[in-house]
Amino acid sequence: MTQPFKTRIGIIGGGQLGKMLIEAAQPWNVEFNILEASSDCPSGKYATNFIEGSLMDDAKIKELAAISDVITYEIEHVNVNTLFELEEQGKTVIPSARILSVIQNKGRQKEFYAEHALATSSFLLMPSTEAKTANLSIFSGEKVVVKSCTGGYDGKGVAILSKEDVLADKVPSIFPGEVVLEEFIQDAIELSVIVARNAADEIKSYPAVEMVFDPKINLVDYLFAPSKVDTAIQREAKDLAIRAIEAFDGVGIFAVELFVDNRNRCLINEIAPRPHNSGHHTIEANYTSQYEQLNRVMLDLPLGETDLLTPAVMTNILGSDDVTGDYRLDGLSDLAATQGAFLHWYNKAASKPGRKMGHFTVLDTNLEDAIAKSNALRDKLRTVKP
Ligand SMILES: Nc1ncnc2c1ncn2[C@@H]1O[C@H](COP(=O)(O)OP(=O)(O)OP(=O)(O)O)[C@@H](O)[C@H]1O
Ligand SMILES: [Mg+2]
Repeated sequence: MTQPFKTRIGIIGGGQLGKMLIEAAQPWNVEFNILEASSDCPSGKYATNFIEGSLMDDAKIKELAAISDVITYEIEHVNVNTLFELEEQGKTVIPSARILSVIQNKGRQKEFYAEHALATSSFLLMPSTEAKTANLSIFSGEKVVVKSCTGGYDGKGVAILSKEDVLADKVPSIFPGEVVLEEFIQDAIELSVIVARNAADEIKSYPAVEMVFDPKINLVDYLFAPSKVDTAIQREAKDLAIRAIEAFDGVGIFAVELFVDNRNRCLINEIAPRPHNSGHHTIEANYTSQYEQLNRVMLDLPLGETDLLTPAVMTNILGSDDVTGDYRLDGLSDLAATQGAFLHWYNKAASKPGRKMGHFTVLDTNLEDAIAKSNALRDKLRTVKP
């Protein structure tokens, strides 16, 4: 064996998060195995062993586990029952099946925060057919946020409705199953605090990042670090995020998405038990990226420093509205000519409107300059027909 690490890591899911996780471990020469529906996925070609199959397929997950010492996942929609079984057989799953099973269900997630006195917006949980009879007076304002308990991602399981529409029974046609109805946080500032914890109980958080959303598609437009909110609020966000991961007794990496409401209260929105879009910038901007940090956890190493080295802006490159299928990327030479700009391209087989195709990060000693450079690049970097 020439590798320093004998630990073989199995990732359920072959998307961009898995790709960047593998890239982060290249200097260490760690072996990764991947399970994904098609080998034509972002991380397929980086895997030592690639298993083709559904992320819900019990037998395929077990096949992956048989050739891996540690199992992780880069998406929440995986067969958690199989993960429970693997843990019973002694396999290490990071983060644990117990945590994933709570997080997979937005309703159980909200209950978890309420039970552990972790600040979150007020909510009601019910089958969507009963939403019309819900006591909406507990929510201030005219709007209600409706979330499907299962199956949502990238804002697709979330709808913001008027109270009138909820009472007029519009919810069942949007989400058929169990739903969370929650208070709409007016003018929320959205922060994310990434927290890492290893099996030796070491815990570190990253400086809060602030997200700017595209209201049209409910997807992050760009995010920047450091956040501009008061340091006292940032401290509160960090404390809340750390308390949440301690309450979960979590080992792994976690992105804690938070709202700061107009009374400056921090409220947990949701937690992703994996590397997250809001931590892409850590690859270039922090001492230790979120990806290297998760690798450290899985390899049983001490955690790395999380400090920000320089202000940074991360922008998702989304598939253009007029391109479906084959594509090429326009604007690369503009990016290459911009000092402090870094491209991450995900190698997706096809472009689709709004699909995350890649991202770029811009570093600058001054945050406002980094934002200006990013804005200049963001309209140039786009997928076009080949
Ligand atoms: N209670 C709320 N008040 C105001 N806005 C909200 C609320 N809940 C969700 N949103 C908006 O909808 C977005 C998506 O919600 P959420 O993060 O719960 O869903 P998601 O599908 O998991 O999204 P993603 O995968 O992008 O994180 C939030 O980032 C926020 O902009
Ligand atoms: Mg979210």
